Amino acid sequence: MTKPNTVTSLTALRGLENVVAGSTRICTVDGREGHLIYSGYEIRELAEHASFAEAVYLLWHAELPTAQELGSFCARLVSEMRLPSQVIEMIKLAPPSAHPMDLLRTAVSALAMYDPETEDRSTDACDRKSVRLLAQTITIVADMHRIRTGQPVLSADLEMSLAANFLYMLRGQVPTPEELAAFELLLMLHLEHGFNASTFATRVTASTLSSMHAALTSGLGTLRGKLHGGANERALDIFEQVDNADLIEEYIDGMLNEGKRIMGFGHRVYKVEDPRARLLRDHARTLCHRAGMADLEAIATRIESVVLDRKGIYPNVDFYSAIVQHALGLPKPYFTAIFACARTAGWLAHIREQYEDNRLIRPTSEYIGPLNKTAKPISQR
Ligand code: CMC
Repeated sequence: MTKPNTVTSLTALRGLENVVAGSTRICTVDGREGHLIYSGYEIRELAEHASFAEAVYLLWHAELPTAQELGSFCARLVSEMRLPSQVIEMIKLAPPSAHPMDLLRTAVSALAMYDPETEDRSTDACDRKSVRLLAQTITIVADMHRIRTGQPVLSADLEMSLAANFLYMLRGQVPTPEELAAFELLLMLHLEHGFNASTFATRVTASTLSSMHAALTSGLGTLRGKLHGGANERALDIFEQVDNADLIEEYIDGMLNEGKRIMGFGHRVYKVEDPRARLLRDHARTLCHRAGMADLEAIATRIESVVLDRKGIYPNVDFYSAIVQHALGLPKPYFTAIFACARTAGWLAHIREQYEDNRLIRPTSEYIGPLNKTAKPISQR
């Protein structure tokens, strides 16, 4: 007689809420008080005194750059923006219906086959690949948009900041100071957010000692979902469906009664307002007024107050990032891909941190299936 199966009883925490899955020096989020801290600096401080590229440098080097360090860092980034011709061909060959995030994920995965250092995890190679991968990710998104709209692709201009180049390479116009201030902030706020789902995915992949390209591909696939980065595209839907602030209450109640979620609202960690939404709100207001979209701002304010009243939840970064990107004239299908470009820098910091003190990430599970079943030969089943 076979011995009955036994299992040790373990209890899973749904969604791993409050589970400490690792240690990091890169970033911390205090959801109770609404603080977001990059390498020791409160996000408000960085928003006031630093650019996106400076914040990237901070996450990769644990300190803000001097003017000279920033100059050579940006020069390195700009010099690495070229894509292998095969990847450009791949972008051209993709079906026009392909979502930008699917194409971005595929192109980043393909870069592994053309990068001579893909398998080299030495500190120097990881530093070079980080610069290359961030630069190339930005180019993939900008070129993808230009190619798909029949416009010539544009080269980066060393005289402009990384964020200014990104906006210029996407839209073909040098941004105004107001547009640039909003976009610098938008990228900085999307750069990093602790052990969120996509960052955790990159760390799991890196912990198997797989390549940086493979880890980024995991992150991109995870970010795409509508409960994570994909929420920003959907956050704009509501503005497309209701163009009158007086109709918002009815619309939101209808959605909630149908059990639907309001995209761009709520957060696993923040129990108070998301500091990123707070920082973006003023820029959204200014850009909407400049772009003749003042109605959008009035509708946004109404949505906020109705959702807070009905569900007690606040807007997250995706709600205001959708408005800012829309007011900047960026196409909705690219919202998540633009978020992904910024987050690539955060993922790269985490991948390197994981490599530097690696142990395979391999959690366990609570088994809730049956036990002690007897297998019969196929003829008797
Ligand atoms: N709309 C309506 N109800 C919501 C929402 C929402 N956006 N968010 C949470 N709830 C409700 C949910 O229905 C549930 O209510 P009840 O207890 O009555 O059933 C309660 O809040 C708890 O929900 P949960 O799913 O257990 O909470 P969570 O911590 O797993 O959810 C979240 C976090 C971000 C997945 C969720 O708030 C959500 O689905 N938001 C909409 C999608 C979104 O905006 N995502 C972007 C997140 S921030 C940027 C990023 O990560 O990319």
